[in-house]
Amino acid sequence: MTATPLSPRALMSLLANGVKAMDVLETALDLGLLDALERGPVRLGQLSVRFDLRPDRLYKLLDCLESLGFVHRDERTDDINDAEYRAVPGLQDAAVAVVGPDAIERDRDKYPWRHLHGRLADTLRGRLSITEDDFAWPPKTAAQIAGFEQSMAAGLGPIIEAFRTHAPRLWPDRHRLLDVGGGDGTLATHLLTDTPGLTIDVYNLPAVQPLVDETRARSGHGPRLGFVGGDFLTEPLPTGYDAMAFVRVLHDWPAGTAHRLIEQAYHALPARGRLLICEEFRTSERLAMQFFWSYFLIGVDSCASRLREITFYTSALRRAGFHEIEVLPGPFELISARKP
Ligand SMILES: C[S@@+](CC[C@H](N)C(=O)[O-])C[C@H]1O[C@@H](n2cnc3c(N)ncnc32)[C@H](O)[C@@H]1O
Repeated sequence: MTATPLSPRALMSLLANGVKAMDVLETALDLGLLDALERGPVRLGQLSVRFDLRPDRLYKLLDCLESLGFVHRDERTDDINDAEYRAVPGLQDAAVAVVGPDAIERDRDKYPWRHLHGRLADTLRGRLSITEDDFAWPPKTAAQIAGFEQSMAAGLGPIIEAFRTHAPRLWPDRHRLLDVGGGDGTLATHLLTDTPGLTIDVYNLPAVQPLVDETRARSGHGPRLGFVGGDFLTEPLPTGYDAMAFVRVLHDWPAGTAHRLIEQAYHALPARGRLLICEEFRTSERLAMQFFWSYFLIGVDSCASRLREITFYTSALRRAGFHEIEVLPGPFELISARKP
């Protein structure tokens, strides 16, 4: 059975019952039902015996999951015990990522989005904003910086995987990388572990240095993980590196700034130097997963929050003078380009 996309009307019914839908999902995850369904097909009768659940009640819970598009049902007789179910592939992992103990959505909930809730019209008219005390962009206080970089580090999984996949061809024997806007250095520690010949400096606002120092101490990478303090909006990027990376940095800024940063990297790199760009390049799937920030940042004018298509970056790289522009596949694509 192929799933048909839901009409706006049907989707709105699900949204209106979102709290209940999350209860269904969490319950199914905690009981172990999602795992059983993903290993399916499995009959309702078997599930009810295995998990000690009443079949008539379980049928309704499975209807909830089916309405969300999470399971397929094959019902061949009038007996609900014979109905056969199968989860869509990846359902269990997705549920862990969204409702599990370290879920990214739990982390996002700590941001003061409630200030906007019910007051979006005033926010859109500019009468209400998130204050700098509640959330400044870039983060300002030590607590804001630590909280934000922790959120970023929590979402690095697919990016680490993308870099890991392509590491052998990205980093020849000895290589110096500048990770521009490199957070608290978490990504750098993973790259250093994978590639012995690599050294990485994180370039970030000076106030982030204590976090990178902590990451260095924790990771044991010593001087292979450096820090260069600076503000890329007001200073040129430092020179002396074989490669530079912008990871989830350029989307925070308007197009003009993104172009300028790519041009700055071009000037700072040596001939044959490599620039890497990794972003949540815009797809309907990623836009949906970005929903929290799209909403919350309505009240934060200093952060542009632009998920852009890959083509924006490939043409910006060409325009800046880069060549050998490649889009390397992965859970997040990695754009690699070279200075001639
Ligand atoms: C969205 S975070 C991405 C962090 C990290 N690259 C990652 O993907 O986890 C953007 C990063 O850019 C840094 N940043 C923001 N404005 C900056 C500026 N003007 N100069 C240097 N770094 C800046 C922030 O401190 C933050 O670490």
